[in-house]
Amino acid sequence: MYFYPMRIDIITTLPELMESPFSASILKRAIDKGLVEVHSHQLREYSDRKHKQVDDYQFGGGAGMVMTIEPISRCIEKLKSERDYDEIIYMTPDGKTFNQGIANQLSTYKNIIILCGHYKGVDQRVRDIYITKEISIGDYVLSGGELAASIVCDTVIRLLPGVLGDETSALTDSFQDDLLAPPIYTRPADWNGHKVPEILLSGHNQKIDEWRHDQALKRTEELRPDLLEGTENE
Ligand code: 6GU
Repeated sequence: MYFYPMRIDIITTLPELMESPFSASILKRAIDKGLVEVHSHQLREYSDRKHKQVDDYQFGGGAGMVMTIEPISRCIEKLKSERDYDEIIYMTPDGKTFNQGIANQLSTYKNIIILCGHYKGVDQRVRDIYITKEISIGDYVLSGGELAASIVCDTVIRLLPGVLGDETSALTDSFQDDLLAPPIYTRPADWNGHKVPEILLSGHNQKIDEWRHDQALKRTEELRPDLLEGTENE
C-alpha cells in the first residue's frame, strides 16, 4: 500500500524550537518512512525591514508588540503558489481548544500550514484574510505558539496510516471513544503481594474486553465526568 505523505509547513520566528520534537521516536520514524513531511520556515527571512523585524507597535497604543502582516503574507502566498492547502492554522491562546476530534480531522488532510504566534499576537487582518482555523492547547499562556504547534503535530502525525504498528494502534487510545484508557499491567503478575487483576490472566478475551470497557467507564466517571456529559467542545 502506498500513502502520500502529509505535508505540514510551520511558519515561525523560532524554527530551532521545532527540531527536537521531530528528531526522535515515532515522529522521526514517520518522517524517515516518508509518511509525513514537516517544513519549518523562518518568518524573518520574509521581512524587508532593516533588522529582519517582524513586529511593530500597536495602533491605538498599549503594551506589547504585534506581528505584522507583510512577512506573514509573503510566506503564506509563496507556499500557496506551490500547492493547495486544506487548512491554514493559527496557534493562539484564544483559539478553539485542541482535542482528539480536531486531531482526527487534521490527520485526513494533505497539506496544512501552521502559523506560530508571538508577542501580543498577529495583526487581525492576518486572521481575517488567511487563517482558516485557530487552535489553542489549553487555558494558560505560553511564550509562543511553537510548543503548542509541536503538540498538534505529534497528535496528528501518530494518527497517519502506517505511523503506528498494530500493537500501538491509535484506535485504543484514551479519548478516541471519549473514554479514558483502562488500567494496564505487565509482568510480574504478583509484585510483593500486589497482584494483577485475575481476569487479565484468565485468557477469556470477551470477558477481558468487557472488564476493560467497564474499567474505562469507571475511570472516566471518576476522573473526567465531563467527557461523559457530551460537553466536549468539538
Ligand atoms: Cl496556541 N499559544 C500560546 N502562546 N499560548 C497558548 C496556546 C497557544 N495554547 C495555549 N496557550
